[in-house]
Amino acid sequence: MMTATTSRQASAGVTEQVDPADDPRAFRRALGQFATGVTVVSTSDGDAHVAMAVNSFAAVSLDPPLVSWSIRNESRNRDAFVRNAHFAVSVLAEDQVETSGLFGRPHDGQFDRVAWTAGVHGDRLLDQAIAHFECTLEASHDGGDHLILIGRVTRCTRLEGTPLLFSQGQYGIAQAHPQVALTSASPSAAPAAGDGNHPLFMSLLKATEQHMSRLFDEYRERLEISAFGTRIINLLDEAPARDGELAERALLGDAAVEDTLNEFKAKGWVVESPAHIFELTDSGRILRRELLRGAEEFTAAQLKGIDPRDLEATRRVLIKLLTA
Ligand SMILES: Cc1cc2nc3c(=O)[nH]c(=O)nc-3n(C[C@H](O)[C@H](O)[C@H](O)COP(=O)(O)O)c2cc1C
Repeated sequence: MMTATTSRQASAGVTEQVDPADDPRAFRRALGQFATGVTVVSTSDGDAHVAMAVNSFAAVSLDPPLVSWSIRNESRNRDAFVRNAHFAVSVLAEDQVETSGLFGRPHDGQFDRVAWTAGVHGDRLLDQAIAHFECTLEASHDGGDHLILIGRVTRCTRLEGTPLLFSQGQYGIAQAHPQVALTSASPSAAPAAGDGNHPLFMSLLKATEQHMSRLFDEYRERLEISAFGTRIINLLDEAPARDGELAERALLGDAAVEDTLNEFKAKGWVVESPAHIFELTDSGRILRRELLRGAEEFTAAQLKGIDPRDLEATRRVLIKLLTA
């Protein structure tokens, strides 16, 4: 029996509670609350190479060194991974969103568009990744509509860089938690006037950005639209599009885009043509204008009370830093 609540009363409250058998989409959304990295897993059989974006990758054991990931039973690559019995995992860096998109759908010539090196088992490793795990297939287990593959790591490589993240249907980057950033950049520890070379400047900049983003997210939550939804509305305002195109252009997960479009259709902001092209309705366009105005009002409210000369100076400094 389904017991679904969709309360927006408090951010700490229950948003959805379902039996996954009744509402697989809500199950997927709940799973999306768990942040993961993104990898590209590849295998090879002579000249035949296959690879795909995977975020189900996980550490399993240190001794013996085991890792796991799961592949959809319907994936055209499934049999190759089982048959070849070896695979290589490349952990993507924060600037590899396009690479994730490239390997996240069937595309011709995937390896022509990235730099790679063949590993010990002949499987291709992406040069720009931040870690490589070269594995032999240790075991595979039935996992419902997926197959769980356990790999024994025969060689691992750590490279420089920071990871690309995936959570709540979208890509992210890892940043120091605001509490960590604030320990060195609390307003009370702010540079004294005229002390432009203060070593805390970078921390202060970062903490300010995170603080403002959090306030803006809270503000947007009151408008009942996420950053995610706003991006889709903006893209549809530029031109009608199919859901797959939107996911690629907005760098969002397919499932999350599908959910958002369904929600927007139900709210009357978007219509879908028989050819599955999505377009903003008049009320969708009105909403977009309201969102733009809202963003301006939010900014004005935050900046209220600051001397216009200080604001102008701040703007100049930020632009100088951005173009440095
Ligand atoms: C960020 C991201 C993570 C993914 N994670 C997985 C995964 O863990 N397992 C899986 O089977 N497919 C996953 N996919 C989908 C596959 O990459 C995609 O289905 C494959 O590249 C296309 O070939 P196929 O549809 O024949 O499998 C993921 C896609 C993306 C963009």
